[in-house]
Amino acid sequence: MAFYYSEPSRTFSEFLLLPNLTSKTCTPDRVSLKTPLCKFSRGEEPALSLNIPFSSAVMQSVSDDNMAVALARAGGISFIFGSQPIESQADMVRKAKGYKAGFVVSRSNLTPEHTLKDVLELKERTGHSTAAVTHDGTPKGRLLGIVTSRDYRVSRDAADKPVGEFMTPFASLIYGQSGISLSEANDLIWEHKLNCLPIVDDNGHLDYLVFRKDYDAHKNNPTELLDANKSYIVGAGINTKDYKERVAALVEAGVDALVIDSSDGYTEWQRETIEYVKAHFDVKIGAGNVVDREGFRYLVDAGADFVKVGIGGGSICITREQKGIGRGQASAVIEVAEARQQYFEETGIYVPICSDGGIVHDYHITLALAMGADFVMMGRYFARFDESPTRKLKVGNNFVKEFWGEGSNRARNWQRYDTGGKQGLVFEEGVDSYVPYAGGLQENLDKTISKIKSTMCNCGSLTVEQLQRTARITLVSATSIVEGGAHDVILKENSLSGE
Ligand code: IMP
Repeated sequence: MAFYYSEPSRTFSEFLLLPNLTSKTCTPDRVSLKTPLCKFSRGEEPALSLNIPFSSAVMQSVSDDNMAVALARAGGISFIFGSQPIESQADMVRKAKGYKAGFVVSRSNLTPEHTLKDVLELKERTGHSTAAVTHDGTPKGRLLGIVTSRDYRVSRDAADKPVGEFMTPFASLIYGQSGISLSEANDLIWEHKLNCLPIVDDNGHLDYLVFRKDYDAHKNNPTELLDANKSYIVGAGINTKDYKERVAALVEAGVDALVIDSSDGYTEWQRETIEYVKAHFDVKIGAGNVVDREGFRYLVDAGADFVKVGIGGGSICITREQKGIGRGQASAVIEVAEARQQYFEETGIYVPICSDGGIVHDYHITLALAMGADFVMMGRYFARFDESPTRKLKVGNNFVKEFWGEGSNRARNWQRYDTGGKQGLVFEEGVDSYVPYAGGLQENLDKTISKIKSTMCNCGSLTVEQLQRTARITLVSATSIVEGGAHDVILKENSLSGE
């Protein structure tokens, strides 16, 4: 006979947090959102942590190299989408890893034979007031000098004056050697009152430029997520079909963490994939998605470093309608978190879980964490920002961004949905849509994070772990949900709608 769950499955909007005592030292500026990304033994530190509990969805319309850099800069991780050829995904990983915080590859370059006219045209075109002069005019050529607006006087100098005659020559430049740290570069910038410091390798070739203003911006991102080489931490999605070739290429490109991207992860294909990756590569691998203790345990026993939770809750998802499988996101997280706790007590190994999909309001993130998620994955949330890879359009009077599901005909990510090995998407599990354009990632994240920290203080928690341990969560009735929004008043235009 079929098994029936006695409780209905529930979603985040059916729950609220109750305040705990807030001590005078429990203030938002003291809250840490640091959270583990991969499993670790009791008493040890995880090999990879996030500085904010956010990851961006493994989707064409969300996570490319640009999003990966922007989110790592803020302290989270992107999993670059896998529904593309292996080489182009590896290339995106390589680009994101190659982006060194504070070190930029020179974008305005000249040769000594160029003229003042060329300098002015370049400046007009790029807006950069500093140009590197290399022997071949490439960003990595032998450095011969630097041109800034202090080197010429447009009113006096002839337009055809060669750059070689007025640039600051290499012999007079202060420069750093390749391999120098960002703070050492900054020391040189301050000591010599520079705006820009070239970084040069042993053969005299230009490697990077470090700008004073970028260093200041770097200091404003104290949570950025870097590896030991000061490159951003980058993730990527894989599937259970071409993983042997794909993982090899991604690891070669420098990826830090993989996740098997599937709508149903409780499968033997996932176990085989995890076992293969663990046996052949030194890289972290998450698996999923699951919605119950059995699925969690299966993937953890197979060796998963973290487990992703959620079926059917995504904003663009029609899996539940099409196939009748899934579970309310809150119920799924609560049960998997219990299974994780039990596993921890039995083995002393803590396996992080990620709540994937269905975050609508910012407070849903805090609820997911309180229910035991270590971090969340979001698609719709990130798709709204400048940094997402899709087009920004004007529809009616509003700006929107395109956003489509991996199971839509547009993405054709059959590997994510196919469980039987047949190649093709027989029916859709996702839609093609728009989301309201919301501006830049950092400004939106700042607002979301301040709400989370403020709620954590209401709950008397300075860390995610403390929130998970001490949160008190109540179910709300349908009638009291109405009470939670503005009600029985006539709203003025432009007032908050309750988001
Ligand atoms: P959102 O944050 O609510 O937009 O949900 C994003 C999540 O939806 C992703 O991380 C995936 O787990 C899931 N997803 C992405 N594309 C599809 C689809 O086409 N159908 C069903 N689920 C999808």
